[in-house]
Amino acid sequence: MSNQLEKVKELIELRAQARLGGGEKAIEKQHAKGKYTARERIAQLLDEGSFEEMDMFVEHRCTNFGQEKKHFLGDGVVTGYGTIEGRLVYVFAQDFTVFGGSLSETMAQKICKVMDMAMKMGAPCIGINDSGGARIQEGINALAGYAEIFQRNIMASGVIPQISGIFGPCAGGAVYSPALTDFTLMTEGTSYMFLTGPKVVKTVTGEDVSQEDLGGASVHANKSGVTHFTAANGEEGLSIIRKLLSYIPQNNLEEAPIVNCTDPIDRLEDSLNDIIPDSPNKPYDMYEVIGAIVDNGEFLEVQKDYAKNIIIGFARFNGQSVGVVANQPKFLAGVLDSNASRKAARFVRFCDAFNIPLVTLVDVPGFLPGTGQEYNGVILHGAKLLYAYGEATVPKVTVTLRKSYGGSHIVMSCKQLRGDMNYAWPTAEIAVMGGAGAVEVLYAKEAKEAADPVAFVAEKEAEYTKLFANPYNAAKYGYIDDVIEPRNTRFRIIRALQQLQTKKLTNPAKKHGNIPL
Ligand code: HXC
Repeated sequence: MSNQLEKVKELIELRAQARLGGGEKAIEKQHAKGKYTARERIAQLLDEGSFEEMDMFVEHRCTNFGQEKKHFLGDGVVTGYGTIEGRLVYVFAQDFTVFGGSLSETMAQKICKVMDMAMKMGAPCIGINDSGGARIQEGINALAGYAEIFQRNIMASGVIPQISGIFGPCAGGAVYSPALTDFTLMTEGTSYMFLTGPKVVKTVTGEDVSQEDLGGASVHANKSGVTHFTAANGEEGLSIIRKLLSYIPQNNLEEAPIVNCTDPIDRLEDSLNDIIPDSPNKPYDMYEVIGAIVDNGEFLEVQKDYAKNIIIGFARFNGQSVGVVANQPKFLAGVLDSNASRKAARFVRFCDAFNIPLVTLVDVPGFLPGTGQEYNGVILHGAKLLYAYGEATVPKVTVTLRKSYGGSHIVMSCKQLRGDMNYAWPTAEIAVMGGAGAVEVLYAKEAKEAADPVAFVAEKEAEYTKLFANPYNAAKYGYIDDVIEPRNTRFRIIRALQQLQTKKLTNPAKKHGNIPL
């Protein structure tokens, strides 16, 4: 064998060794937990055969606690680039088979390298987390590595899309990288995220809580809102990430890909002419409206189990990607509260950062009153959504279906927050408040003194409703651009979005604003 052939053979052997990560036993252990390895995950995520691995021969440099005797090629993370639907993406996947995927100085350097390249190339960066946290043997160097990653997460925010898949443990300060990225996905039963684990919780507070109840996928999907998506398993999770990327541009200077639209743009949806119940207190399902108007009824919902009174997600109109924000009358009557406001605000800001037009469907009775909300800072949280809409310069199309009262009317992308096209259905009620509340404020004294208080209140309510519970009062002032037939909503939105394609609007130059946090 020639010298060169010897060297090629050695390379092939080293590559094979690197691909084994922590070794066959550790891989078996990973599989036994119902989890895939880092390389298997990358293969499922990317277009077949597109992955180009980098830094396969990187090894840690730690000599503490006998680490100098334990080395694995690649050092616990697989990094590189590839394509999803033919579009460039950068990826890193922590390899739990090597020191439990724990983060070393060199692992951090590998991750930072792909993040830097993603920024340079203007391509999304996807991180797959499965790690025991900071590599304990490396001490401060591991912490410094995390900080380097966080700093890059922050600099990349609003420049390239960043997506985190949590496919195993993600604990301690490590959770802050996913939290800084745009979207987080967790797998059910196999992933968890918490700042402090159950043992520390027990010691400090005395609370007994399982790993799953403290930071499992369903907790973060339902209660905290930390995760945007959950998946039954790794394969489903990776396919959700692929789908999500189809709605998103490569970076903040590009537009989302246009998809060939097979759904007629002028499709009339007769059911919408009769979807609003006669009683203002009766709900209907906003999902039916969304499904009826978007291309082929396809909607990728974000944070679907959190603050269900507001719906957010991606859809397309005539092949163009949009962010949909919609009140859900079926849940808490579609009221805005702290969680709903925070949820929608972050989504609006994501869409604005990445040139994705916003379509807002309004049916909101107001903000949820009470000490619970006030003590929780609903003023600040509501202001976040207000700020987000007011700051957004992407095309904004708003359709008011029914209620749009008071502050919540303003917050939900009204004309004065630079809404581009504001439509209303004939059933819209755009007013300071609902009839019952208004009469109570205006006529409390008179009602008490009236011969027949019930009839008096009913009469005043009818008067108020006639005057204000309609869209024409707002349309009279140009606050509503047109009152549209509900069945024609899809077509009118598409027309508006077509018109707005050349929209140019910039905010005043500033270092950054000071959004209420
Ligand atoms: C070094 C680690 C490690 C770590 C796991 N391993 N975590 N090595 N540093 N942080 C190693 C284990 O020693 C073991 O090595 C292998 O990975 C697999 O771990 P197991 O414990 O056998 O796996 P499992 O039973 O599945 O338990 C997983 C685990 C547990 C729950 C994650 O390993 C664990 O509790 N690890 C420590 C978690 C932790 O406290 N991390 C520090 C958090 S503080 P062998 O050789 O036996 O295969 C932190 C600060 C970040 O991260 C701050 C950022 C700002």
